[in-house]
Amino acid sequence: MTDKTAGGDVRLSGISKHYGTFTAVHPLDLTIPQGSFFALLGASGCGKTTTLRMIAGLEEPSTGTVHLGDRDVTDLQPYKRPVNTVFQSYALFPHLSIFENVAFGLRRRGVKSVKKQVDDMLELVQLGQFAQRKPHQLSGGQQQRVAVARALINHPQVLLLDEPLGALDLKLRRQMQLELKRIQTEVGITFVHVTHDQEEAMTMADTVAVMNGGRVEQLGAPAELYENPGTTFVANFLGTSNLIEATVETAGTGAAAGSGSEIVVSAAGSTLRLPAARCSTTPRTGGKLLVGVRPEKISLVHADEEDTIAAGRNKVPGRIAASSFIGVSTQYVIDSQVCPELEVYVQNIDRDARLAPGAEVILHWSPEHTFGLDADQDIDAGIETVEESV
Ligand SMILES: Nc1ncnc2c1ncn2[C@@H]1O[C@H](COP(=O)(O)OP(=O)(O)O)[C@@H](O)[C@H]1O
Ligand SMILES: [Mg+2]
Repeated sequence: MTDKTAGGDVRLSGISKHYGTFTAVHPLDLTIPQGSFFALLGASGCGKTTTLRMIAGLEEPSTGTVHLGDRDVTDLQPYKRPVNTVFQSYALFPHLSIFENVAFGLRRRGVKSVKKQVDDMLELVQLGQFAQRKPHQLSGGQQQRVAVARALINHPQVLLLDEPLGALDLKLRRQMQLELKRIQTEVGITFVHVTHDQEEAMTMADTVAVMNGGRVEQLGAPAELYENPGTTFVANFLGTSNLIEATVETAGTGAAAGSGSEIVVSAAGSTLRLPAARCSTTPRTGGKLLVGVRPEKISLVHADEEDTIAAGRNKVPGRIAASSFIGVSTQYVIDSQVCPELEVYVQNIDRDARLAPGAEVILHWSPEHTFGLDADQDIDAGIETVEESV
């Protein structure tokens, strides 16, 4: 479907944007593989839209270049780039039918027989039966699909999506995430999707670039970012992490020694272990380390049942400060000497009625599920900036 000569990866080299003395995007190197679903994820104001607009040609970079495959498009006018954009406000033409909205790009290029292509495109976004309606006769999600069809009709090599689902309610947004993913798989072109919603990025993208303050902080597959965050910002921004300040007892032989090597730390009298391979910094015996574990990796037992915990598990004592039953799981907040507010999510299978606020408990988890971060950074980075999805 794409022009072979125009094919290839999107390559940003040293691209940056200054507004006066303010740097919206710091020099950035990024390769977005052809045909991938790529997400730029970050809090409001971190430079996502600016980055996207530089790819589109709507914003002139202060430094650096944009390549599409072998072609340097940095100085190319937006309309000459094989790129199209879908925005949050989809701005369909209100007086035109859905069919004519989608046909618009073809007609502007002087294409005479548009019917087959428009019908195919409406089929792709599953709106065939609404061809003759006007935009106001469709739901928000349907209108956004029209916007996607309209952007795809000219067969761009890259589709840029800037918070396209931001105006939709939560349930519709979830449906549209799956729908957009299906469309991308079907057309096979590169999608670059901007969002501040970490669940949305993880659901849809093959690769997520987490942005913070005009920089890409970490890049990887969703599961890789979630399981092995490299910074406190990523650990806190993507889901929830318990981060424990610990002192290194045995530094192991470092990540280079292979997967067998283990780091031993202590925190308020508890000894904890983690694989050296999951530590994103080189620990030093006697030095500090932030030890992380996700809430769903932790099990909880009443303090009376400590002897039921298998040997070799990481164990931390505490007291239940709060619990909330949310159906599939119960979410606990545990006060412990090791860490003030540990979060624990327990699946609702067999509930121990004694696990109520005030109860003395033992938290335990596998050392394998523990990661290590450089202690020389803000332990709360990424927490306040998470916007509630509405
Ligand atoms: N035209 C502009 N002039 C001055 N500052 C701008 C302009 N456009 C964006 N910015 C600033 O650059 C930063 C990044 O903006 P933007 O890329 O829109 O962030 P995001 O899309 O991640 O919310 C913000 O602090 C914003 O205020
Ligand atoms: Mg934006």
